[in-house]
Amino acid sequence: MTRPARILVTGGAGFLGSHLCDRLLLAGHEVLCVDNFSTGSKRNIAHLLGHPRFELLRHDIGLPLRVEVDDIYNLACPASPPHYQRDSLQTTLTSVQGAFHLLGLALRTGARLLQASTSEVYGDPACHPQREDYWGHVNPIGPRACYDEGKRCAETLCFDYRRRHGLRVKVARIFNTYGPRMQADDGRVVSNFVVQALSGSTLTVFGDGRQTRSFCYVDDLIDGLLRLMGSADDFCGPVNLGNPAESTMLELAQQVLMLTGSRAAIGFAPLPVDDPARRRPDIGLAMRHLGWQPAVPLRTGLERTIDYFRGLLPQDPAVAGTALPPDWLPVEAARPESRLRH
Ligand SMILES: NC(=O)c1ccc[n+]([C@@H]2O[C@H](COP(=O)([O-])OP(=O)(O)OC[C@H]3O[C@@H](n4cnc5c(N)ncnc54)[C@H](O)[C@@H]3O)[C@@H](O)[C@H]2O)c1
Repeated sequence: MTRPARILVTGGAGFLGSHLCDRLLLAGHEVLCVDNFSTGSKRNIAHLLGHPRFELLRHDIGLPLRVEVDDIYNLACPASPPHYQRDSLQTTLTSVQGAFHLLGLALRTGARLLQASTSEVYGDPACHPQREDYWGHVNPIGPRACYDEGKRCAETLCFDYRRRHGLRVKVARIFNTYGPRMQADDGRVVSNFVVQALSGSTLTVFGDGRQTRSFCYVDDLIDGLLRLMGSADDFCGPVNLGNPAESTMLELAQQVLMLTGSRAAIGFAPLPVDDPARRRPDIGLAMRHLGWQPAVPLRTGLERTIDYFRGLLPQDPAVAGTALPPDWLPVEAARPESRLRH
């Protein structure tokens, strides 16, 4: 075990942040979880609230924070399109001002800082799979720009702080990650499909469903973040963390139907603006520098995710026909006239 440290996790009540808090506590560290609960949930960290090495602070990272820490994981930012587009100005400010304040904190305390960046910095990529030296193809004025450009600017700040102040920064470009504690209504494709399948409602496939994504199970991703933070000081990334196994949206929908045993239909809805056609990480850099690659196959990860969502339901509506509680309703964007039966 590495030396116990005081570790700040911003966005610690979110999907990824809460799993990271779990793993850091398990490794013997002290964890300060900072969150404004805009998209995070107390349910994600309820099991940690009595832990002697866990502390929770409600705070918005758009404001300065004065604490003493050894490491900083900056994960605070809404991550799904409906969430980050709900208040796009706040999203940009969270990424840019948040990174700025946390880099200032790292400078004052001498802490290492890991910035959660995203595959969205590649935009709708013109090269495939995406390698870290590809500069991206992002629309700077579209509805996704608050997230994509906010994250790009956060990366810029990290590298300027490193050049100017010698700060020990690490930038992870995270590709689509899924697993327990995703929100049922966050509009991300895995949670959408699983909740729709379990509730017996039509699975919403955008476009013709041939666009691809690569899905990384949450445990693998957290393992990658921990390895990146623990990597040599002269390795700062940016480094892709994701699963290179690529699926079309239609294949994913069919697999979810098969694993849930649901008889729900698949329906098609218009493709959102600036939706990338293909996404797959080249993880050569992570393999070389971190000795990291994902270990959990999609089927296993989906089974665990389905179990999680099932566990939150009184009974399985796919089988019992029970209505979901109101906060469980998925985004219903399918056009009834274009439903396909499976
Ligand atoms: N999950 C993915 O597939 C994925 C992919 C790429 C990048 N990321 C990045 O990883 C990080 C975590 O994503 P996630 O999937 O856990 O999302 P999430 O929405 O579940 O978690 C984000 C957390 O940050 C908190 N937060 C948002 N704005 C804040 C602010 N101004 N101050 C303090 N807290 C704030 C939210 O309340 C939430 O708890 C994000 O930075 C996201 O951009 C995630």
